[in-house]
Amino acid sequence: MTPPVHAAVFASGSGTNLQALLDHETANGPYRIVVVISDRGGAGALERAEAAGRVARVIEVRNRPPEEVASETLSLLESLEVGAIFLAGYLRLVPSAVVSAYRRRILNIHPALLPDFGGMGMFGERVHEAVLASGAKVSGATVHYVDEEYDTGTIVGQCPVQVLPGDDAPALAARILNVEHRLYPIVAEHVCEAWADGRVPGPFTLSPGELGSALERNAL
Ligand code: GRF
Repeated sequence: MTPPVHAAVFASGSGTNLQALLDHETANGPYRIVVVISDRGGAGALERAEAAGRVARVIEVRNRPPEEVASETLSLLESLEVGAIFLAGYLRLVPSAVVSAYRRRILNIHPALLPDFGGMGMFGERVHEAVLASGAKVSGATVHYVDEEYDTGTIVGQCPVQVLPGDDAPALAARILNVEHRLYPIVAEHVCEAWADGRVPGPFTLSPGELGSALERNAL
C-alpha cells in the first residue's frame, strides 16, 4: 500500500473547506492532513485542526520579511515530511521560496470560475458581488495550482454553479461553498493519487454522475 501524501492546510478563517478535507480522509486514502497553519491566532481552522488531533500552528506574516516567514514555514513542513499544501481560505500570498520548494504541489480553492473574478482583493463576498454585477449567469468553484501571484496558477478542476434570479452575494456564496466542500476533497485526492503513482496529475473533470448528483441537490 502506498503511504498517503502528508498535507499541510493553510487557512486564515473559519476553515469549512479544511473540515471538508478532514472529513473526506480515509485510512487508506491518498492524503493525510498532518498540520494546519494559520496567519491568525483566532482562526476557527486552528480549532478544527486541534479537534481532529492535528498539529495547529500560527505563523505570523504581518510586519515580517517574507524570507523569514518562508524559512519558518519550510522548517515546519520539512519536519513533518509534508508533500502537498492545500490553501483553504488563506488570505496571504505564499512566500516565493515556499512556492519554489513546492512547485505544482500547492492547491487553492477559489469561489468563482477562474480566470474570471480572481486576483488581489478578490476574496469573500467581493467575488460574488462582482459576479452579480457582471450579469454572469454561471459562477462556480475552481481548484488551481498556486504560483507567485493571486489566483493565476494552472486550473486543475472546476464546478459550475448557476446564478439564480434574485441571488444576492450571501445566497450565491452559500451555494458555491456547498460545492467547494465536495469539489476540493475529490480534486485533492485526484492529484495525490497521481503523485503516489509517480504520475503528473492531469486535469480533473467531473463525471456525469457527480454532476448529476450535484444537480439533484440543486447545487448547480
Ligand atoms: C472559500 O470560499 C474559498 O473558496 C476561499 O475562501 C473561503 C474559505 O472559506 N478561498 P472557509 O474558511 O473554508 O469556510
